[in-house]
Amino acid sequence: MDDGIKQNYEGKLRISILGGGYVGLVTAVCLAELGHRVDLVDIDKERCELINAGEPPIYESGLRELLSIHACRSLHAYASYDVIKGSDMTFICVGTPQGADGSSDLSMVSSACTSLGDSLKDKEEYHAVVVKSTVPPGTTEQLVIPSVLEHSGKEISEIGFAVNPEFLREGMAIYDFMNPDRIVIGSLEERAGDLVESVYRKINAPIVRTALTSAEMIKYASNAFLATKISYANEIGNICKRLGIDVYDVMKGIGLDHRIGPAFLNAGAGFGGSCLPKDLSALIALAEDLGEDPVLLRSVMSINERQPLRMVDLLSRRVGDLRGKKIAILGLSFKDNTDDVRESRSIDVINELILRGALVAAYDPRGSTSMKRILPDISYHPTAAEALRNADACLVMTEWPEFGLLDDEFNLMRSRVIIEGRRVLSCKDREGICW
Ligand code: UGA
Repeated sequence: MDDGIKQNYEGKLRISILGGGYVGLVTAVCLAELGHRVDLVDIDKERCELINAGEPPIYESGLRELLSIHACRSLHAYASYDVIKGSDMTFICVGTPQGADGSSDLSMVSSACTSLGDSLKDKEEYHAVVVKSTVPPGTTEQLVIPSVLEHSGKEISEIGFAVNPEFLREGMAIYDFMNPDRIVIGSLEERAGDLVESVYRKINAPIVRTALTSAEMIKYASNAFLATKISYANEIGNICKRLGIDVYDVMKGIGLDHRIGPAFLNAGAGFGGSCLPKDLSALIALAEDLGEDPVLLRSVMSINERQPLRMVDLLSRRVGDLRGKKIAILGLSFKDNTDDVRESRSIDVINELILRGALVAAYDPRGSTSMKRILPDISYHPTAAEALRNADACLVMTEWPEFGLLDDEFNLMRSRVIIEGRRVLSCKDREGICW
């Protein structure tokens, strides 16, 4: 290992992380679990206090358990950048939300680089800067490197740069971190790449070493491909629906072809969440910026925008004019096992229902509190049964396993019109969005 890198005999590194959000916090607890000493930096003091108290500020399966083991032991959270110079490397894990024009908003990356550079001014040993935030190809070379070098006053030989994208599914993030299909490491020079590789030495997974821009592109291309698989399944599903074919039988039949694979072929109301829609839109914006016409990616997006509205069309076909009708919505989060409602397909559906004069009664095991901030004027219920009582129809928007157990509860409705946008129900008289 390089001189100046503080490693003990067990290969323990001292790692700082910028950003205590979803990716930063999961990375922090998992790196602590891998035996490293982790300092998490977040400007939100309250969030730091929660983390240090072992209290997860977000819900993620397994996070509370890991935090209770490592908080204030091998993991500390700070609201100041002072700790950075005491670490061997820094992972940048700040958010890159969607900007007004669809492109990626890099302002948080930019200010993290300024503060990171400033805090490295007095550090004498080599330091590696690792970009984990999802950033458009070219960002590390064009923004991160110049900014960190300028603010630290250092030469490129004194600081190493790498890109190490995350492939963490919400709800499964800790499992995905510890059991990755691959670890992608892009670096400018070998030393930084080797150091990042050593972080993961306890994890058994193929390592893909690339240039910085390739690693950045791998992340976008992965999410765009997953989005493409879903829109493909939905388009085939829409055709199947007209032909009376069960698209799930079709996808099972094609998914067993090893060249295709069974994952991400579940047809339904479309993909939501904070990642697939945002990254697809950023890739489209980037392609257009470069003078390319991303026909496929735009189609993937447009299928996804139209798909939830098919739920409302099916509903109108069954119950006619929606004015004054009570419609139960089961599922608000963008997928099961999370309280995250960002870009949830249920938002589009509810807005359309409101537009058509329906009265919406919603239930979600976890997502109601977040949804109330976006849609305060619909009614929220503590159980599925309460939402279903006297409803004229029900739309199922999230694949929560508990919905699979519902049957008698649907008898509380004025009429048993049940349409599912996710394949989760087991009762016989349900109608699927594309099955
Ligand atoms: C996604 C990717 O799966 C992760 O690999 C990636 O790291 C992450 O984005 C990110 O960029 O950070 P996530 O947004 O948590 O993860 O959720 P997914 O499990 O990918 O689901 C996204 C949406 O697609 C959900 O609305 C889900 O219901 C929908 N979906 C998924 C389908 O409609 N059909 C499927 O077959 C699979």
